[in-house]
Amino acid sequence: MINLNNKKILLIICGGIAAYKSLELIRLLKKDGVSIKTILTKSGAEFVTPLSISSLSQSKVYQDLFSIENEAEMDHISLSRWADLILIAPATANTISKLANGSSDDLASTVALASNKKIFVAPAMNVRMWEHQSTQQNIAKLKAYNYELIGPEIGDMACGEYGKGKMSEPNEIVNKIKIHFKNSKVKNKLKAIVTAGPTKEYIDPVRYLSNKSSGKQGYEIAKSLSKKGFETTLISGPTNLVVNNDINLIKVETAEEMFQSTLKNLPADVAIFSAAVCDYKVKKTSKIKIKKQDEMSLELERNVDILDYVSNHNSLRPNLVVGFAAETNDLENYANKKLDEKNCDWIIANDVSNKSIGFNSDFNEVSIFFKDKKKDTLKYKSKSEISDELVEKIIDHLN
Ligand code: CTP
Repeated sequence: MINLNNKKILLIICGGIAAYKSLELIRLLKKDGVSIKTILTKSGAEFVTPLSISSLSQSKVYQDLFSIENEAEMDHISLSRWADLILIAPATANTISKLANGSSDDLASTVALASNKKIFVAPAMNVRMWEHQSTQQNIAKLKAYNYELIGPEIGDMACGEYGKGKMSEPNEIVNKIKIHFKNSKVKNKLKAIVTAGPTKEYIDPVRYLSNKSSGKQGYEIAKSLSKKGFETTLISGPTNLVVNNDINLIKVETAEEMFQSTLKNLPADVAIFSAAVCDYKVKKTSKIKIKKQDEMSLELERNVDILDYVSNHNSLRPNLVVGFAAETNDLENYANKKLDEKNCDWIIANDVSNKSIGFNSDFNEVSIFFKDKKKDTLKYKSKSEISDELVEKIIDHLN
């Protein structure tokens, strides 16, 4: 396992009984050679003292946003630039809400908002607070903003209740941080391309052929790749989804535009073709709006198969090419057929006849079919979790 020697971590300690665990966290990080600076929030100081933190971390504890002494020595921007990584442990419901809404009314939230670094958040709160819809919405926002969650865990709480909300144990948090540095070390230079969403094939300026793809799974895969340090390009057909600036998002409409954009962004180490590209385009698109007629027929022709083209290209083919298969029946058979015919390394297949994992759902269950005829299944879970697991498999494969 990787050593954290010489890494710089800015630890933000918020108010909560779990704050006592941060002292053990500091001890473990120091043992591993980490340089630590700490921000202690006002309510955090009700649970642990600046003196105990500073003795263990052998460094200054920052508490005020408007402190002349701090601003002269290291202001809030410099603090976030100094760190290789920011860790908020414990993170209270209140701080999570501030981060989700872009507040900056104390030093901790201001530093997080001004940060250009990876931020890990280890929540700790009562089970009802954790399960409350507002907290869950804030957590979803944090994930979308590329914060990395650690825990919380299920167990007995200090308040006497039982459930999810306990802060992860310090050694678990340190392990997650080690994995992050290990992956970013290996992955820094690797490039990934993801296609996502539907395409539109125009009949005339106002009408088009398309399909029901939401693009959600592809966007989540791009986010997971980017989180793990891949330089990620997401080539997307029309969707309402958003990603942050870490991902190079290229918006296209037609299959031809998606094809050209994919070629432009190759070579890459891994390419994941999750887009639901229309198989056909209209042979002659009208430049003006077509008027009603008693009878109307459209002549269609095949679009280029982007996956097939890239996967069979001598010089442009990435090391790992992954295709998708959305099927309503005979999943295994069709997936293996696509794997062979399109010469890809993996096919990720899902059963779109099942509404709960269908096109617009936030959840999915997929089977991965490999070239050597092995098969793996990622059971029913959120598309975001499916993507994280998939990217772990991609990293293992590339390693
Ligand atoms: N694909 C592509 N370019 C196309 C068509 C498909 O890159 N013009 C990719 C998709 O992104 C996906 C896989 O190929 O990874 C889907 O295979 P495909 O055979 O096109 O699936 P379907 O359109 O569902 O085909 P069929 O109706 O024959 O099952």
